[in-house]
Amino acid sequence: MNIAVTVKEIREQVSGWRKQGLSVGLVPTMGYLHEGHKSLITRAVSENDKVVVSVFVNPMQFGPAEDLESYPRDMDRDAAICEEAGAALVFHPDASEMYHNGFSSFVDMNTLTGGLCGKSRPVHFRGVCTVVAKLFNIVTPDRAYFGQKDAQQLAVIRHMADDLSYGIEIKGCPIIREEDGLAKSSRNTYLDEKERKAALVLSKALSEGRKLIELGERDADKIKDTMTGIINTEPMAKIDYVEIVKWDSLEPVKNIDGPVLAAVAVFIGKTRLIDNFIALED
Ligand code: PAF
Repeated sequence: MNIAVTVKEIREQVSGWRKQGLSVGLVPTMGYLHEGHKSLITRAVSENDKVVVSVFVNPMQFGPAEDLESYPRDMDRDAAICEEAGAALVFHPDASEMYHNGFSSFVDMNTLTGGLCGKSRPVHFRGVCTVVAKLFNIVTPDRAYFGQKDAQQLAVIRHMADDLSYGIEIKGCPIIREEDGLAKSSRNTYLDEKERKAALVLSKALSEGRKLIELGERDADKIKDTMTGIINTEPMAKIDYVEIVKWDSLEPVKNIDGPVLAAVAVFIGKTRLIDNFIALED
């Protein structure tokens, strides 16, 4: 497995594969890989001849008060995980390779990005769309893989790929959880022992919400109230949002009559964690 740091290296490698008629999958990541990322790579490997994993902590998707500097990084470990999972190539550019001096073009969206995480992270999705659009242009994959843990991101990327006619299949992959239910996330490493325990309140609340829908409850406010009540029993938790929206237009829902995304964002101490489930999907 090779590690490329320039756009030129990626283009040469992919064009060689294309000449041999090989299909290409892309798994975009910010590194510090865990089982969730590994499951994306494994799926991509099973559906494509060659898989590129990008490892790039994208400065453009972090707000000024966010954790860009402290975001965990471990390239040697990431490379080992990519190799073990069967990736053919890792793309690990530095910021100047992705955003040269004078960079001034952006990909943004008028829908889908105003609510949920977009409300408290106003520049986030413009940064995500811009970097993912660049990665699509650089790697030109047949398929690209994203985790459902970032469900809003998945909906946004699907919409962007469609709007901009990329012709790339966007594959959403299930959330991978720790044994006790906590959704795997690179940011879990910020949690100390007490916070780690407190963080379980997210998956507990969501699992109660899911149960209510399975039992036939269709009033979104009642389900949100139950989830909010459970999260508020944890003194270390501070809610950013508890929402139920249509999947995947992300419009608010009052009465549940089709596929919905139930999503939460909660601060545990200083760490903002997100989690969700999708219900009544065909
Ligand atoms: O989900 C992530 O890790 C990032 O938002 C992504 C898609 C790699 C873009 O930087």
